[in-house]
Amino acid sequence: MQLDIFSPKAPPLFGLDISSSSVKMLEIVEVGKGAYRVERYVIEPLPRDATVDGNISNLETVVETVKRGYKRLGTRSKHVAMAVPTGAVITKKIIVPASLREHELEIQVESEANQYIPFALEEVNLDFQIVGPSPTSADEQEVMIAATRKEKVEDRVAVAESAGLKAAVMDIEAFAQQAALGLVIKQLPGAGKDMNVAIVDIGANVMNVSVMRNDQSIYTREQAFGGNQLTQDIVARYGMSVEPATRWRATSRYG
Ligand SMILES: Nc1ncnc2c1ncn2[C@@H]1O[C@H](COP(=O)(O)OP(=O)(O)OP(=O)(O)O)[C@@H](O)[C@H]1O
Ligand SMILES: [Mg+2]
Repeated sequence: MQLDIFSPKAPPLFGLDISSSSVKMLEIVEVGKGAYRVERYVIEPLPRDATVDGNISNLETVVETVKRGYKRLGTRSKHVAMAVPTGAVITKKIIVPASLREHELEIQVESEANQYIPFALEEVNLDFQIVGPSPTSADEQEVMIAATRKEKVEDRVAVAESAGLKAAVMDIEAFAQQAALGLVIKQLPGAGKDMNVAIVDIGANVMNVSVMRNDQSIYTREQAFGGNQLTQDIVARYGMSVEPATRWRATSRYG
C-alpha cells in the first residue's frame, strides 16, 4: 500500500487527508540532500457528520470541501496521495520462504490473508510489501500484508475523482505518518539510530500514539479521545461558550 511517494520520478503529488473535523492538503518539495520543504497547505473545515468513524457519510459535502480546499491550495498538481484510517485496515506481518517468486508470493499472501481477514477476499483490497529478510532465518523473509474493505478505498477514490483529482497513492494513515516521521528522525543526532521516537497525534476524536525504533514501529495504540471531548469537558466544567471545533480555521501558506 505504500508507494515511494518521495521518489523523484513519481508525478508531483500532494497529500489529502480526510479526517473527522476537516480536509487537509499538503504539498512538499524536495530541496536537496533528502530534505523537504512545505510548499503549501490548507485546512478546510468539514461540517459535523460529513465523516463518521473514518467513513465518508456525506460524499457530496466532502467533495465540495475538497474542491474548495484545492482552489485555496493553488497547486498545479492533480495527483493526490491519500490514506485509509488505520482502524479500517487489517495488517499482519507474515514470514515466507525467501525463494518465492513474485507470482508464488501473491498466492501465498492470498492464502494467509484468508486466515486473518473476516471477509470474503472479493470484498477487500489486499496488498503486500516485502519488509526484508527474516531476523531469525536467512532462508525466509518478512512480508507485510494489508487488507481493507473495498468501499473504504472506493469512497476515497470517488471523493478525489468527483473533485477533479486523481488518487495516485492509497496508503494507511499510520504508515504514512511513520514514513513522514522517518524524514524527521533522519535529522536527529546519529540519524536517530537506536532511539525510541514517539508520535502522539491528538485529533478531534481519536488520539494515536506510536513508537518507532530503527525504522520499525514497535508500539501503536489508538484511544477514543480527542480535542472535541476536551472542548466539551471545558464547556461542561466552566459553562463557557466555545466555538465548535469544526469551525476553527487554521490556514496558512508557505513559499
Ligand atoms: N486553534 C485551535 N485551538 C485549540 N484547539 C484546536 C485549534 N484548532 C484545532 N483544535 C483542536 O484540534 C482538533 C482538530 O485536530 P485535527 O485536525 O488533528 O483533527 P482531525 O484530524 O480532524 O481528527 P481525527 O484524526 O480524530 O479524525 C479539534 O477538534 C480541536 O479540538
Ligand atoms: Mg487526524
